[in-house]
Amino acid sequence: MTKDTILITGANGQIGSVLTEALRQRFGEDNVIPTDIRKLDHHVGHFEFLNVLEADHIAELIDRHQVTQIYHLAAILSAKGEQAPLPTWDINMKGLLNILEVAREKKIAKVFNPSSIAVFGTTTPRVNTPQFTVMEPTTVYGISKVAGELWCQYFHTRYGLDVRSVRYPGIIGYQSLPGGGTTDYAVDIYHKAILGQPYECFLKEDTRLPMLYMDDAIRGTLELMDAPADRISIRTSYNLSAMSFTPAEISLEIRKHIPDFKVSYQPDFRQAIADSWTQSIDDSHARRDWGWVPKYDLVSMTEDMLVHLAEQYAVEKVEKLKS
Ligand code: SER
Repeated sequence: MTKDTILITGANGQIGSVLTEALRQRFGEDNVIPTDIRKLDHHVGHFEFLNVLEADHIAELIDRHQVTQIYHLAAILSAKGEQAPLPTWDINMKGLLNILEVAREKKIAKVFNPSSIAVFGTTTPRVNTPQFTVMEPTTVYGISKVAGELWCQYFHTRYGLDVRSVRYPGIIGYQSLPGGGTTDYAVDIYHKAILGQPYECFLKEDTRLPMLYMDDAIRGTLELMDAPADRISIRTSYNLSAMSFTPAEISLEIRKHIPDFKVSYQPDFRQAIADSWTQSIDDSHARRDWGWVPKYDLVSMTEDMLVHLAEQYAVEKVEKLKS
């Protein structure tokens, strides 16, 4: 059996940090190489600085650590991307092309490249959005993800690179904080609720978006990467779905646990981004090809989030008291 060594880019991000832990558990601490452009103060274990715009450095890390798989998570998300469109395009696009090209040259066995619901736009059918549909995104993040999906398919068809992808909806988890996305509100709202503070939401109360709990996102990603290659019929990116809700609905669910939780609404520029995305997703191809089934819905996710966040904040309080 060949030993796998996994390189992760964007390993300090919302998904990257949780995926790093999951991969460490599976492949062993020594066989997982988390990389990011910044290092967190509390980082433990292996870590390499990596700017994904530096192709030579990617190649050097692959050689030095004898990397066999890459999870390429480094990217600028939808809201932050709009502040600096051209640098966002460079990081998202050139970063991916560097990874794909080095992966081809170094004969990397498998590459994971996340895509997003941001590939959809106002001309896409909004309800139960099909796998194959119109994709005219309005954000630079969305444009880079559509182009990225096509490049992944190109590298698969042209060079046989085993690259796999899912279109993540908004990801919600207690383990990490999102940064720069339009769906971030659905994480922030739980933190405010558990702290006993009111929340001011930057989307309107009736804005429905597709969402996915972190545990399902990580498990689904690993299941996709584990599936036999002949089960993967889609090399652009798979639609993935679990639940869809509005800010009003998530607030109501939180209030079942924290009855006096208050939410107000102050929509900003992110409203237009959310309005350009779809409301629910048809993920039947992922279910059929590699057996995708989500486990969490709004009710079970809310229970789990609140239990874990309460624990986290209690530990933090004890540590603060000690210091
Ligand atoms: N969560 C992402 C964002 O809001 C969507 O992929 O940008």
